[in-house]
Parts: sequence; structure tokens; C-alpha cells
Amino acid sequence: MARSWVEFVQAQHIPWQPHDLWGLAPGVEMRLLSRDDDNGAVSMLVRYPAGYGIPAGTLPVDVEFLVIDGSLTVDGQDYGHLCFAHLPAGFQRGALSSPSGAVVLTFLSADPTGVTAPATYDPARLVLRADGYQVPYTGNFHPEFPPGAGRKLLYKDPVTGDVSWILGTLPVRWAERSEIHPTVEEMYLLSGEVHANRGVMRPGAYFWRPPEVPHGPFGTLTGNLYFFRTKGGPLTTEYVAPERPFQWWPPYDPVLPPSLESCRGEVPGTPLAY
Ligand SMILES: [Fe+2]
Repeated sequence: MARSWVEFVQAQHIPWQPHDLWGLAPGVEMRLLSRDDDNGAVSMLVRYPAGYGIPAGTLPVDVEFLVIDGSLTVDGQDYGHLCFAHLPAGFQRGALSSPSGAVVLTFLSADPTGVTAPATYDPARLVLRADGYQVPYTGNFHPEFPPGAGRKLLYKDPVTGDVSWILGTLPVRWAERSEIHPTVEEMYLLSGEVHANRGVMRPGAYFWRPPEVPHGPFGTLTGNLYFFRTKGGPLTTEYVAPERPFQWWPPYDPVLPPSLESCRGEVPGTPLAY
């Protein structure tokens, strides 16, 4: 099995551990969200301490990231809140620093240990910097998707079709049907709350859901901002009848691998006062 099904863990419950990101970033801390046992690909939160700095280097694997707190400086460019990059293996990353610290959602395509960086990279696989504030919303990306949402497309892989995007939804919005995708769907909740079939997700909620697993219906009172990725191709959705009808304030009912069992738990929140 490549990666275990995780749905869902609140990252706040995962301990920070000192790490060197397999040689890519000595001196940081990380929270491991999920890992592929076959090739060592990882999804994680990385915390850079204030005053951090490492020199330029050529990347042996693909590195994708979204800044969720603080800021990084890479090759003299500022990457603040919701700045995104997809840097392919073989890309020469400039010097990286974080004068005041940062927390960064980070994805490696494989374990970089002992991997020789390729001599070249495909420029079509490079997103040097996309500012999530500036990327425009697009809507109507699926004719059956309930209205009241927009998507900011951050990356589409020209080879695999894998996609990364931010989804924003309006408050007091819910769906009546569940959905199924032929790909992995991965998500980190940036803001707001989500009422789902496995409980109420709050900022910091994370899932890695294997293909063909029905999920939803989903709803939100606050509206929210999600970061999503597919793995295994572009996003396509089949809408199906739910296992049970949509329900506000559902109980927490996660699927967790043994490595995350100790991180089980909700993050409390206050229902909106109307
Ligand atoms: Fe989905």
C-alpha cells in the first residue's frame, strides 16, 4: 500500500519534531501528515524558525508548498501568506531564508535521500510563485457542483494531470449528495469549518483519501478556504446518493492509520450565533 487513508486528522494534534527534511532543510521542525511507504513522498507542515537561512541548491525531487503563516524569502522574492510554488526536480532553488519565521504546507514527490538531481527540468512543471491572494477565482468547474464556491487553480501537472487548487465557499452552504473521484483527493483546511460525513473539520484539518471512496455531503456555516490536491490524474467527480443525509454537527468518526491514532481528536469551535 502506498499511503494510508487519513480522514481526518487535525494537524494541531500532531507533535512538531525536529527534522532536516531528508537533507533539504536542516534545522526545521515538521508535522508529518502522510507518507508514501513505497517512494517516501510526504505531505507535511514545516516550521521555519525566525532567522532561518540555507544556501541555494538543486532539487533532487519535486517540492510543492503553500505558506500558511509568516513568510519565506527565496532567491530574494518574498513568499507570504498563501503564496504557492511547485518546483520540479532539477530546478535550482535560490537561497532560502525566513527572517521572522514561517509555517509552510510542504509536499515532496519522493524521498530525496541519495537521489541525484536531474540535470534539467520541464519548465511546464514549474510554478515559481503564485500569490493565492492574486490568483483569480473561477467558478462552474463542474456543472453539478452546488453553487456558492470558487476555485483558484495553482498547478496542473502537464504529465500526470494532477491538480492543486484553493477552493473558497460561501457561508451557510451545503450539499445533498456525496461524491466519488477516480483519484486520490488530499486536503488541508485553511479557514472556516466543514460539516462532513466524518465530523466537523476546523482549520488544520487534513485528509488523504484513496480513490473511489464516497464522501460527503459537506456543508459549512462559516464559509471556508480549502487547499486541495489530486494524485493520479485530474479531478473528475461522480455525484451519488449519500450513505446518510446531510447533517449539521456530525460526530467525529475518523479513519486513521496506527501512526496517527494518538493524534485523534477534534478542535473545538463555537457554533455561529444567528
Ligand atoms: Fe471530493
